[in-house]
Amino acid sequence: MIYAQILAGGKGTRMGNVPMPKQFLLLADKPILIHTIEKFTLESRFDAILVVCPADWVSHTEDIIKKYITDERVHVVIGGADRNETLMSGINYIQDHYGIQDDDVVVTHDAVRPFITQRIINDNIVAVLENKAIDTIVRGTNDQVTDIPVRSEMYQGQTPQSFHIKTLIDSYNALSSEQKASLSDSCKICSLAGQKVSLVRGENYNFKITTPFDLRVASALVEKRS
Ligand code: CTP
Repeated sequence: MIYAQILAGGKGTRMGNVPMPKQFLLLADKPILIHTIEKFTLESRFDAILVVCPADWVSHTEDIIKKYITDERVHVVIGGADRNETLMSGINYIQDHYGIQDDDVVVTHDAVRPFITQRIINDNIVAVLENKAIDTIVRGTNDQVTDIPVRSEMYQGQTPQSFHIKTLIDSYNALSSEQKASLSDSCKICSLAGQKVSLVRGENYNFKITTPFDLRVASALVEKRS
């Protein structure tokens, strides 16, 4: 089975003083989350599309999905305290509701990256069916320059990140609680456990809406496209 998992369990504190987590804010005529779900419903190879949201926002999420989405493959799941817990909640849901077969894979994506393209989704599916874990890797710096990296070796991280589900579960279970606490990124689950993580090409448009500035840029883009 090929699953999609849309991670919508965050609080969006960096968006400032807004009445709801940023994934529910309107981008043009509909919530950011709905734009993202729509991109995934266009891909017929997904057997199920999980939307993992905060416990307090389950009924709101179900309401907006009912209003905008008609695709029966979409299911709402309760997320966790941090992003990786949300990811693993989705995996537990898959385990409980469908069981996990040897070749099952999952394409996971931030709800707040609504400009994901069909090309990126396709590249993730094709690559994860061949490899075990897929990412566009990030290398961060503090606010001081520590070294000048070789540009050709640097990539800016995006989602989707896609996993062979059994490998993800085994890798997660193999980590100590300190390692779990130190996870800054979901692909680190696999890389810490010694798994190879492959890369696919991202896009500048596939940026994450984090701040009010990002939301303004996203709104301008949607307006221009329509
Ligand atoms: N996310 C999640 N579960 C969490 C935390 C984050 O599913 N417990 C999701 C967010 O909903 C978002 C993506 O992971 O789609 C990226 O999160 P990010 O924007 O970095 O974090 P937020 O918690 O949403 O925002 P902030 O850090 O500003 O509070």
